[in-house]
Amino acid sequence: MPNKDIKAKVFRDNNTTAIFNSNGPEETIWLGTIIGDLLQNGDLIALNGDLGAGKTSLIKGIALGLKSQDNITSPSFSIINEYTGIVPIFHFDFYRIGKPEDIEDLGYEEYFSDTGVILIEWAKIIADYLPDNLLLINIFMDYQNIFTRKIVFKPKGKRYEKIMEDLEAIVGTGH
Ligand SMILES: Nc1ncnc2c1ncn2[C@@H]1O[C@H](COP(=O)(O)OP(=O)(O)O)[C@@H](O)[C@H]1O
Ligand SMILES: [Mg+2]
Repeated sequence: MPNKDIKAKVFRDNNTTAIFNSNGPEETIWLGTIIGDLLQNGDLIALNGDLGAGKTSLIKGIALGLKSQDNITSPSFSIINEYTGIVPIFHFDFYRIGKPEDIEDLGYEEYFSDTGVILIEWAKIIADYLPDNLLLINIFMDYQNIFTRKIVFKPKGKRYEKIMEDLEAIVGTGH
């Protein structure tokens, strides 16, 4: 899985934030596979970033890392897609939710328990419903270069700090 062509490094911004600079969609997907490999039942990843930032691309990689063979697409209209991997994968996209309270009609609490790995696009829209502990990932586009993305990790809670440290150990750290 590690791709020798990708000289990827995670840069620490401060004690609790790490940044990965992606130079193309394949690097973002590759990073996702490494993350997916580190996840287990009950883990929740909250993604934010503009349209076309690469949230779904990263999730494609995460699902691959969880050994899913399903077709990964943004559940923009259905709000949720379920995939089969080593553990069940629940892929949410809240871009088109009418209002945050509509999440209550989805039976989301059942998903947000320990039944699988939860990956959420546009998590900020339903921020009030998210648990305290999660891995927050923000993807920033670079309007000077269409292939460059800044992928910023903010772990909340010990479990997610550990995932970020493991990720750094695999991908390598820069300065
Ligand atoms: N470094 C990169 N990482 C991810 N996607 C990239 C990158 N550079 C260009 N792209 C392109 O940006 C688009 C990202 O789309 P997508 O993953 O669906 O974004 P989102 O789910 O955030 O709307 C794709 O067309 C992809 O090819
Ligand atoms: Mg998307």
